[in-house]
Amino acid sequence: MKRNTLIIATAMILTTGLVIASCVSTKVTDKSGTQLWSENCQRCHNSPPSSAFTNTQWEVINTHMRQRAMLTEDEIKKITEFMQAGD
Ligand code: HEC
Repeated sequence: MKRNTLIIATAMILTTGLVIASCVSTKVTDKSGTQLWSENCQRCHNSPPSSAFTNTQWEVINTHMRQRAMLTEDEIKKITEFMQAGD
């Protein structure tokens, strides 16, 4: 009987931990375009300013850089919007 209570208590603690962990990972995807750009686009090269390319060119460049930087569709969308807003 006591043993069962312990198992149930442990399971509840683990479940609570999982719920908290999933909230944290949601926050990571809440990063802004500016933040995602500064964390990812300077890793391999100096990133040119947003004014260096037109909005259409940024679409093409970021489609390509998404593969290189291993970013999600949501992340690259935010970065592209950030680059395009700078013009
Ligand atoms: C994993 C390394 C890597 C990451 C991360 C990366 N790039 Fe690149 N980038 C490259 C390489 C390599 C090239 C050269 C072209 C090619 O071979 O793809 C390049 C080329 C470019 C160019 C063209 C430069 C020119 O003068 O024509 C631009 C603009 C660019 N990257 C922007 C970005 C942006 C914006 C990000 C962030 C979303 C990014 N890059 C992330 C590797 C990377």
